[in-house]
Amino acid sequence: MSRATRVMVTGAAGQVGVDLLDVLEGVIPPGGDRSFQPDQRSIPSGEFDVLALTRHELDVADRDAVHRAVRAARPDVIVHLAAYTAVDRAQTEESECFAVNGAGTESMSLAAHENGAHLIAISTDYVFDGNKGGAYVEDDATNPLNVYGASKRAGELLCSSDDTVVRTSWVMGVRGKNVAHVIADRASSGQSVRFVSDQTGTVTVASDLARVLATLVRERPGGLWHVANSGTTTWFDVAAYIGEILGRHDGFATAIATTDLDPAPLATRPIRSDLSIDKFASAWSALPDWRDGLTRLIRDRRSRGANR
Ligand SMILES: NC(=O)c1ccc[n+]([C@@H]2O[C@H](COP(=O)([O-])OP(=O)(O)OC[C@H]3O[C@@H](n4cnc5c(N)ncnc54)[C@H](OP(=O)(O)O)[C@@H]3O)[C@@H](O)[C@H]2O)c1
Repeated sequence: MSRATRVMVTGAAGQVGVDLLDVLEGVIPPGGDRSFQPDQRSIPSGEFDVLALTRHELDVADRDAVHRAVRAARPDVIVHLAAYTAVDRAQTEESECFAVNGAGTESMSLAAHENGAHLIAISTDYVFDGNKGGAYVEDDATNPLNVYGASKRAGELLCSSDDTVVRTSWVMGVRGKNVAHVIADRASSGQSVRFVSDQTGTVTVASDLARVLATLVRERPGGLWHVANSGTTTWFDVAAYIGEILGRHDGFATAIATTDLDPAPLATRPIRSDLSIDKFASAWSALPDWRDGLTRLIRDRRSRGANR
């Protein structure tokens, strides 16, 4: 039997991290779709030997610690999920944000190369300004509108051309802190919500992203890849759909404009940053429709007593 692929995962306690650890162990995470296998192969237990590192175990902004950790672990592949993800707070914590998302990603890439590992780093739709007027493909020009987006773009540029960089968007997991839970809590408690209908994007359910990442760990393609669930939507449509799943057909969600947000968020978001997944779909397969992903997320959230 061949040796297990050794995989180091940074940011392993985050919402994508917990789902990725399940997937790499051959377990379907909550919200997961057993039939979604982009590489048409199930994942047997023992295929991957996983070293999961939380922020407590490895601060990726500490260059020396990153090099020591990679040298000691000698992974075949590193999935670098650790990130400064507080988009609004980043506007006032620019250097902290860049230290993690820019310099931290550079350290991971350098350490990977020095130790013969393949790096898979995660980036965001917020590298785009939203002015294209259509879905973004991998080689479209970037122009981030906020500090978080600029720091993730810096991280992309500091990766080597051999690395695999996955851009994803609007990530929601059963076990994550994310807007899907805020909406579902309000829907279940008889409250209503107001969401913007003028910001268009692509939802990515964390379990589906995790299954894609396992495929990329196997295949190590290198280059840029856009990964999101199929179909374009708005925040208002996401809220209305979750309300529908939970039986709220009574005007639960109200559509507002970004200019109606009070207080206005510190970070400007792109008005339209949906990601085209055609490249990934041509190489492997398209991800399930976003409604299917959210239906699974809400179903499994409920089966866990809405207690994440
Ligand atoms: N969430 C989204 O909508 C979204 C969209 C596009 C791209 N992404 C990208 O997808 C990846 C995974 O995101 P996610 O949704 O899983 O985010 P998450 O839940 O916020 O997880 C990020 C993890 O990174 C950890 N971390 C922060 N600073 C660190 C440091 N200096 N060293 C080591 N670990 C550190 C965090 O720990 P603490 O919790 O202790 O801070 C957290 O466990 C990130 O690269 C993110 O930028 C996310």
